[in-house]
Amino acid sequence: MSEAPHGAPIKTPGQLIAAVIAGFGIPVAIIILLAVYVNNSTRTGAGTDIEQSVNTRIAPVAQVDIRDANAPRVYKTGEEVFKAVCSACHAAGTAGAPKFGDAGAWAPRIGEGYDTLLHNALNGKGAMPARGGTSPDDYSDFEIARAVVYMANGSGGKLAEPAQPAPGAAASAGASGAAAPAAASANENAQAAAAVAALASVPQAAAPAAGGQSADAAQAGKALYEQVCQACHAAGVLNAPKFGDKAAWAPRLKEPMDTVYNYALHGKGAMPPKGGSNAPDADVKAAVDYMVNAAK
Ligand code: HEC
Ligand code: HEC
Repeated sequence: MSEAPHGAPIKTPGQLIAAVIAGFGIPVAIIILLAVYVNNSTRTGAGTDIEQSVNTRIAPVAQVDIRDANAPRVYKTGEEVFKAVCSACHAAGTAGAPKFGDAGAWAPRIGEGYDTLLHNALNGKGAMPARGGTSPDDYSDFEIARAVVYMANGSGGKLAEPAQPAPGAAASAGASGAAAPAAASANENAQAAAAVAALASVPQAAAPAAGGQSADAAQAGKALYEQVCQACHAAGVLNAPKFGDKAAWAPRLKEPMDTVYNYALHGKGAMPPKGGSNAPDADVKAAVDYMVNAAK
């Protein structure tokens, strides 16, 4: 007697193979489809604009903000400078600062005169940091001056808005004292602005001519003097010691020459660093020698 069939569906080796393939294959196919589905939804979640996200990822870490030194400079208003810098102390009267709007606190200071106010704002006074703690690269003298006028006039003063430096001055000497609206008289102010404006084109021409090591230092000094320094030192603009004026130079020359060179290189009062030029140090020193020799 043969055994009764159990009704098993797999009867041939071919069916067995088909069953095995189906047993593994179907779950694997489902898993693959699920994986693709999950992956797909993550991708769309991260941002559909692939180009943009790639650009963000490959963007350089540091961005350099290139400013054209010759572009016309846009000055901040006194109010802008005040809000960005000075308000840190002057809004609430921090550290004993005269409060904005407090006419009583400002009256005696405004009484000292605009020049004194500006001088103290630029150079510091007591707990007041020079330029409110900013650098001349961030805020020019003109912008600081505007902030001074804004504060004083917001606190009972009636100061005139400082004159804007001549166009072109900003690039070379705008940040120095040369174009300072502090000049005692309008005439002096105009003279200085004219001198500085005349300078604006000079440095570029002066630098290559000097070319690092000058064959003849005395020659280079005289050349630089004629191109740059004489704008102020010939006529004594802004009270610069006049060329050949022994009396004006004598007290200055009591200081060691290194100090005098330093003033010429890094500025002093209304004297801009290197006279507003970018001539090599050696040539500036040579120009000092040239001026000093003429005043002996
Ligand atoms: C860190 C705090 C601080 C900041 C920031 C600051 N000041 Fe002052 N400022 C003072 C203090 C303190 C005084 C009072 C100094 C004194 O009379 O001894 C003062 C005084 C002054 C005076 C009066 C000077 C005088 O002749 O009596 C002027 C003008 C002035 N500040 C302008 C400015 C301007 C402009 C800015 C922004 C560019 C600024 N300050 C930012 C603390 C500050
Ligand atoms: C925008 C005008 C200006 C220009 C340009 C200028 N100077 Fe001056 N210079 C001054 C003023 C103002 C002083 C007086 C500064 C003071 O004593 O506060 C001065 C002072 C000096 C002093 C004396 C510093 C001391 O010992 O007291 C030297 C040195 C000097 N300048 C060299 C030069 C040279 C070199 C150049 C050209 C490369 C030059 N200056 C261009 C305005 C100018």
